[in-house]
Amino acid sequence: MTRISCIFAKFFALSALIFCVNVDALGWGQKGHDVTCEIASRHLNAKARKAVKKLLEGKSMIYWSNWMDNASHTPEYAYTKTWHYKNIDEGIEYAEAPLEPKGDVVTAIEQQIEVLKDRKSSFQSKRLALKMLVHFMGDLHQPMHMGHKTDLGGNKWIVNYFGKDKNLHGIWDTDVLESGHKWSYTEWADQVNRTTRKERKHICEGTIHQWAEETYQITTQVYEGAPQGSKLSYDYVAQWTPVAEQQLLRGGLRLAYILNSIF
Ligand code: ADE
Ligand code: ZN
Ligand code: ZN
Repeated sequence: MTRISCIFAKFFALSALIFCVNVDALGWGQKGHDVTCEIASRHLNAKARKAVKKLLEGKSMIYWSNWMDNASHTPEYAYTKTWHYKNIDEGIEYAEAPLEPKGDVVTAIEQQIEVLKDRKSSFQSKRLALKMLVHFMGDLHQPMHMGHKTDLGGNKWIVNYFGKDKNLHGIWDTDVLESGHKWSYTEWADQVNRTTRKERKHICEGTIHQWAEETYQITTQVYEGAPQGSKLSYDYVAQWTPVAEQQLLRGGLRLAYILNSIF
């Protein structure tokens, strides 16, 4: 190859690579976040319901559920880009995972809770904290948001899903939910939000870190169940839809639990 054609070849190879890693960064797709917030809103006590309504100036949590995914792409909120996930590389214990200096989903949730609890916080800062909290509680329960840093949380982990090459992160953001059920977010909530008081109590036990670690255990199984290049279809959906449902339920109930505790 001449020097010029070699430079061209490198340029095209690099462009193709950049093109393939289209980073699907930011959480469940819209449906997952809406379902999480809808379930949460059904479990708010009267005080929390009133406080949320006031802070969101009449709009619902569902209205704001997905806002962060767009806001993080604006200069104003660029500092929140890493707040949607926490990376834990293969073979590393949850507690041993190096911390992202710019913050991760767990620290982001803890911070927003502190802002909401603090009597000295302004209305505007509480309002922003709530908009962030309702979103990040969804992200905390999306298994690929606890994925390996080496593959950008599954964004570079390519499998074949119903005949198309896709990344595992995107499959978990949207495809697993949409392949499982063609439901609206309220229909999802109707079907998933079926628990006894005892089950709800059990789900809401623990700390944010314990919830994150629980997600990470699922993450490990998700990677194992979908090696790179594997072909996933109906049996994959049958196996994993119930897990996705359970994660949405946990996210919703725990979000309500946090808000009920704060207000
Ligand atoms: N989105 C973008 N980068 C990511 C990462 N490293 N882990 C999870 N989600 C991501
Ligand atoms: Zn997100
Ligand atoms: Zn995502």
